[in-house]
Amino acid sequence: MILDLGEQPPSNSFIDKNELNSLESKFPLRLFWCNNCYLVQLLDIVEKEYLFRNYFYMTSASKPIVEHFKKYAQDVYQEFLQKDDSLVVEIGSNDGSLLKEFKKLGTLILGIEPATNLSKLANQSNITTKNTFFSSHISKEIIKSRHATVVIANNVIAHIEDLQDLMSGIKILIGDHGVFIFEVPYLVDLIKNLEFDTVYHEHLSYFSILPLLELVKQFGLEIFDIRKQLVHGGTLRIFISKKDNHQINKSVKIFVDKEKKLGLDKIEFYEKFSLDVQQLKKNLIKILTKLKKENKSVFGYGAPAKGNVLLNYCGIDTKFLDHIIDTTPLKQGKYTPGMHIPIIPPSNLNNDDVALLLAWNYESEILIKEKIFRNNGGKFLIPLPKPIMK
Ligand code: TYD
Repeated sequence: MILDLGEQPPSNSFIDKNELNSLESKFPLRLFWCNNCYLVQLLDIVEKEYLFRNYFYMTSASKPIVEHFKKYAQDVYQEFLQKDDSLVVEIGSNDGSLLKEFKKLGTLILGIEPATNLSKLANQSNITTKNTFFSSHISKEIIKSRHATVVIANNVIAHIEDLQDLMSGIKILIGDHGVFIFEVPYLVDLIKNLEFDTVYHEHLSYFSILPLLELVKQFGLEIFDIRKQLVHGGTLRIFISKKDNHQINKSVKIFVDKEKKLGLDKIEFYEKFSLDVQQLKKNLIKILTKLKKENKSVFGYGAPAKGNVLLNYCGIDTKFLDHIIDTTPLKQGKYTPGMHIPIIPPSNLNNDDVALLLAWNYESEILIKEKIFRNNGGKFLIPLPKPIMK
């Protein structure tokens, strides 16, 4: 084990007012490292039906992600999708935000989304979506009509328990010529920036390139390019195809060499991370306690899943935070899991307040958006990588 974040409720299980007095399910949240294949993962696995069948994270609620998707679709289209009858399949297509962009560009699309509420929303806006978990079985069904030219998966393969079946399904779906493009948060960024709150029950694996190379090799596939993206606090876009289909970009060797140099294949790298996280918790509580003594009112800015991990791990409840503001309609009126902090829609911010930035991955956008608040004396408390006031 390399990190212990205690017993926590699933971080997206926001609760209603009438559930506040019921017992919440909590599960151990611990990170393990395999000294054989170097994969970092959770071993305490919460049933996926429980986590993903009703889901509150909606891609279209985050403006920067919508922008990211527009460019994403255009880039992929230009590189791989010029033919008329190309099919793009997206695994974990959420409310259809990315597929919508591909549809505009004229490709055939198919979404695969286990959350019933989200797939319904997507289908209502004419983004054809199958309400199911991805599997090799689904791939076999799809290829009865055609193979996919591009299969996309953003921030979703870390959610999949059976990586062998995922890769087998990808291999079937892309056939001889397709590509699989996926985005995952990069373990190296997580550790360097102390983004420990991105560790939660939905994220079963924390990827670096070393274990991925081995995984895809078992299926006759290979990584032919790796491109760094700036969203979500550091993400990798990884390109995979059947072996020998694409020239291998030099980026692949650069990543491998860097990971070995950093020591991702040694336990010491992870031990230091764990100590740093424990220290961060102490520092953050110290600052919040001081603010409360000064009679400041502190509220949370954004109610992302990761915010709940941070709140639960540090024990930040309504003694510290009055409420949390969030733009997602589905979250408003609910309470955060574990710490039970009420979530309200954004309104005018009080200039004497301090905003604990739980959605720290949107720091630059949010600081610009809240210029007036800051100009009038309001402050943001940024929790990571080192708690600071801005
Ligand atoms: P995000 O970091 O995208 O997701 P995750 O749950 O995977 O950690 O979530 C950001 C949350 O912050 C989301 O609930 C929307 C909210 N948000 C705001 O309330 N205001 C904003 O200006 C932005 C950018 C996000």
